[in-house]
Amino acid sequence: MSLDPFLVSRLAAHGQEHLLRFWKDLDEPARERLLADVRSIDFGELECLVAALVRDDETSVPDAERVAPIDVFGLPRTDAERVERRRAAEAGAALLAAGEVGVVLVAGGSGTRLGFDGPKGTYPIGPVTAASLFQIHAEKIVALGRRHGKPLPLYVMTSPENHEATVRFFDEHHRFGLSHVRFFVQGQVPAVDRATGKVLLAEKGRVALSPDGHGGTLTALAAPAPDGGPSCLDEMRARGVRTLFYFQVDNPLVKIADPAFLGLHRLANAEMSFKVVEKVTPEEKVGVVVRVDGKPQVIEYSDLFPKLAELAEKRAPEGNLELWAGSIAIHVLERSFIERLLGAHALPFHRAVKKVPYVDESGKKVEPTAPNAVKFERFIFDALPLAQRWTLVETDRAVEFEPLKNATGPDSPATVRQRMSDLFAGWLERAGASVARRPDGSVPFGIEISPLFALDAAELRDKLEPGRVVDGPLYLGPDEMLLPR
Ligand code: UTP
Repeated sequence: MSLDPFLVSRLAAHGQEHLLRFWKDLDEPARERLLADVRSIDFGELECLVAALVRDDETSVPDAERVAPIDVFGLPRTDAERVERRRAAEAGAALLAAGEVGVVLVAGGSGTRLGFDGPKGTYPIGPVTAASLFQIHAEKIVALGRRHGKPLPLYVMTSPENHEATVRFFDEHHRFGLSHVRFFVQGQVPAVDRATGKVLLAEKGRVALSPDGHGGTLTALAAPAPDGGPSCLDEMRARGVRTLFYFQVDNPLVKIADPAFLGLHRLANAEMSFKVVEKVTPEEKVGVVVRVDGKPQVIEYSDLFPKLAELAEKRAPEGNLELWAGSIAIHVLERSFIERLLGAHALPFHRAVKKVPYVDESGKKVEPTAPNAVKFERFIFDALPLAQRWTLVETDRAVEFEPLKNATGPDSPATVRQRMSDLFAGWLERAGASVARRPDGSVPFGIEISPLFALDAAELRDKLEPGRVVDGPLYLGPDEMLLPR
């Protein structure tokens, strides 16, 4: 295979001709792979990204005077608020029963911090049975479909890196009984050298490409199927799916397609909605939802400091933070909103400085010990300022947010399993059981309740005889109790 002179001059025009440096060393299949990588890159766009985010490190953090707190539907505290929330839940349940809701699970990330060999969704997280994250999510979706009399379609976003392994895992588990699951692959962008802006080679014949961030979901949903068939959005339209529940693979506590959340979203005629938790410390690593010049926006935790430190630390007289609405990456989006955005706006890219292994000029593989590269990612929350109407709904982190991010320490398998056991212990107690706890209130053994046994505390109460004593590991599975009572 000879080189296309047009491609060579295009690369040279963008200062990226080094990508073909090892062409002579490559066999035919490797050459084809390299060309496919190179052709997937929009070098014009990349040049703009390098100019804005590598050379200039342009940052869009607003000045503090422009930033203000935002209105949130707080946790219901009064009877009137509880009634309003029940009404919202009924409205949401009606959407589920009408088949208007689809579920989008984003699982294309690289899971670098966890360092697990395989897609993060396959991680065995169940505190007793080691059920995978995918299994837990899928069982919730199956259970919801049964409860509302209408199966929910699931759309799983993968990346080129983990697509095959993800599909295989679902297939090996008979798709966990889901009635409709479709996988769609997100885009990739090249990583560039932090000092020069040159695209890195991962191998002599491979560009260092990485997923384009969870904001890539929107374009990936609109892309035709690999066989040229309808895109996910087209398919949703044909199925009558109007509203999408979006969540990320790493949080096993997520209340998928929570009817009250769906209902608040739809009653407000919102285009995009967010679940938020109260930030306890200014430094907490979640993005904060605020108003900037009156418009809703998420500011990443890394952007709060140092420029907005004073504001981030400011507390109301009662002691809570003024900017408290921490985004936990649980959203509802109208399909029509996504369609509107795709025609008119591209979400911006952000920069992430990372350690990316690469092949140097001599062809030697280098494992950097310090961050050497810039990766570019889009974030789904950047769609918020583009929404004409939106809602924010507060939830309690203890019941809905414990993401699996790290191998050890915070947000690690140990903390996630503990939080799951503690949550299920609370459900059991509300069903009249007594559960052994440590002096600090945590549970000293694993408890796991399959969503197919009970999707929430109320369902568990209906199923469990009161008076049960739980003093050792417990699993409540789909049909029976499998472990010691
Ligand atoms: P994170 O930003 O936590 O990234 O993704 P990650 O890839 O899981 O982990 P690290 O940063 O490499 O350690 C949050 C969610 O967004 C998805 C992830 O799969 C996870 O569900 N995501 C992230 C994508 O689907 N695509 C991406 O390009 C990035």
